[in-house]
Amino acid sequence: MWGICSRAMVKVGMAKPCGLVKPCHLVKPVSATRVSGRYLTHQRGLPALPVPPLQQTCERYISALEPIVEVDELKHTKELLAEFQKAGGVGERLQRGLEKRASKTDNWLSEWWVQVAYLTYRLPVVVHSSPGLVLPRMNFRDKQGQIRFAAKLIAGVLDFKTMIDNETLPVEYLGGKPLCMNQYYEVLSSCRIPGLKKDSVVNHAKSSRPPKHITVVHNFQFFVLDVYNSDGTPLTSDQLCVQLDRICSSSQQTNMVPVGILTTQHRDLWGKAYLNLIKDKTNKQSVSAIQRSIFTLCLDGAMPQVSEETCRSTAAVQMLHGGGSQWNSGNRWFDKTLQFIVGEDGTCGANYEHAPAEGPPIVALIDHVVEYTRKPEMTRSPMVPLPMPQKLHFNITPEIKKDIEEAKQDMNILAGDLDIRVTVFGHFGKDVPKSHKMSPDAFIQVALQLAYYRMYQHCCATYESASLRMFRLGRTDTIRSASNASAAFVKAFDDPNRQNTEKVDLMAKAVAAHRSYTNMAISGQAIDRHLLGLKLLALEENLSMPEIFTDPAFAKALHYRLSTSQVPSKADCVMCFGPVVPNGYGVCYNPMEDHINFAVSSFNTCKETDASQLAQAVENALLDMRTVLDQTPRAKL
Ligand code: COA
Repeated sequence: MWGICSRAMVKVGMAKPCGLVKPCHLVKPVSATRVSGRYLTHQRGLPALPVPPLQQTCERYISALEPIVEVDELKHTKELLAEFQKAGGVGERLQRGLEKRASKTDNWLSEWWVQVAYLTYRLPVVVHSSPGLVLPRMNFRDKQGQIRFAAKLIAGVLDFKTMIDNETLPVEYLGGKPLCMNQYYEVLSSCRIPGLKKDSVVNHAKSSRPPKHITVVHNFQFFVLDVYNSDGTPLTSDQLCVQLDRICSSSQQTNMVPVGILTTQHRDLWGKAYLNLIKDKTNKQSVSAIQRSIFTLCLDGAMPQVSEETCRSTAAVQMLHGGGSQWNSGNRWFDKTLQFIVGEDGTCGANYEHAPAEGPPIVALIDHVVEYTRKPEMTRSPMVPLPMPQKLHFNITPEIKKDIEEAKQDMNILAGDLDIRVTVFGHFGKDVPKSHKMSPDAFIQVALQLAYYRMYQHCCATYESASLRMFRLGRTDTIRSASNASAAFVKAFDDPNRQNTEKVDLMAKAVAAHRSYTNMAISGQAIDRHLLGLKLLALEENLSMPEIFTDPAFAKALHYRLSTSQVPSKADCVMCFGPVVPNGYGVCYNPMEDHINFAVSSFNTCKETDASQLAQAVENALLDMRTVLDQTPRAKL
């Protein structure tokens, strides 16, 4: 199993060289379709993603390999790189090709990226690609509370959508630079469509008649809910409450066939089952209504009872995959770009299909929604009778039934395999690193390196997502957190022969090196997407694959046993995702000012990994690093 999503995709290009590099025209950059407005003016003002110099990438690649490969492997790679870079060689040719591509496109990477990172990736989107988001537990514990909260949530999303529709979303900044806002225009009214070999994404927001409905799923039954009045105003929370109540009353039956579970399947199998499903006209119309909807709201049934201590981890399970076919995995349409999930016990969150966007725009939307739901009740609107939400019907043939049964089995195996722990590190947050004049993100990443080293006595290739949104249509590049500086630090930290002053010095260097890599990555000068581009171009031009890409060291560099991401938010939430390699960990964290939320995942079938153990090791590493800092005179920093 190869991990994918943006956190590990480069592996795919490497593991399965194939003709997958044709640009996708289905996820159209907004700039291709919008012809006016503030959005376009903003987008036009953004710089284009640069193609880094070839020699710089080769040198940086060698440095990145140093802490994770053996000396003889490194020597071999250096020889291959020298050959690759030589004057008139294949490296130069590919570099020129990339520069040409950059001069002719809005972003030389973005269309390739959505293809290789997502649409040609065939493992289930569930766990392997789509992140979950766990919100703080809300203050309701019954069906009525669930409905009332869900109604406010819908109203909050519609409020945010108004800003998208009017192009009045405030522009975001990173390090003082304005960011590309395209992803905000991709997440609503959009859906992934399974294909036999590759998928596509359709965005109905850009159609001449954009959708006015959402889909609601309750007890595995789907409904179309129109969320705008005939005068174009969004339904109020009170109106939505009435409609959700009607939906719940008419879907009390609990033994329904979970058609939605088909979307948890391996993409090739789902692609086949999809064609079979939509052969029937009614089924086709129902699927189309889901795909066209603005988003999906999942009103979930119960999840297994757990202690207060583990309820956040169970919530992560619910958001990530629904818990298996006996719980809520069938109460979803995982191809839908955005699904909000509300349980009866105050649990709530979301799941999103990753192809159109990264976490931060999703979290910004959700932060807005959470704030909206906390506002006092709106004034009650006069209750004009609204049409009954329309139930979506499915005709289940024996063949479809068989596909559903297979999907249930496979989903249950996957659910049983995933171990996920959500922890709150309550001892400090961004405040402590900041007080020591260190980047909090870099501090956490160095702690992760220490935790991993303590468990395994070696350093591993580590992925952290870095935003490329300073550039038009930018997505992500990789911050390689295992560096020479972090390796020197983790090896010295538990050595009783080293003085604290030396440990603090090495820590400061490791943190600074990480921050410096981050700056390099967000300014488009990291190595991973550049190497990917060179490789994809070689494939596109049918060149024999340069040996640097078939080199075992390259495979090692892309085998991310630590796949990590910071997703900050205003609300006290945490995003979660699965590991990207069978023997790896997925680690997502949200550093708040005085605490840090972590979600750590691993696979139970791998005997070497243990999510709880890593979560504990990270906590210990953070505490030990602070202790050493506190015990060491500041002048030494
Ligand atoms: N001394 C004191 N304070 C410092 C500092 C230092 N040396 N370095 C940084 N800080 C402060 C910053 O000013 C910032 O302050 P704020 O809390 O007031 O905003 C804060 O510490 C956080 O900075 P830092 O921890 O360095 O991280 P960052 O916010 O720059 O984020 C990344 C780093 C890599 C996470 C970010 O650049 C990024 O790319 N994010 C997108 C990731 C993504 O897309 N993830 C989703 C994938 S699905």
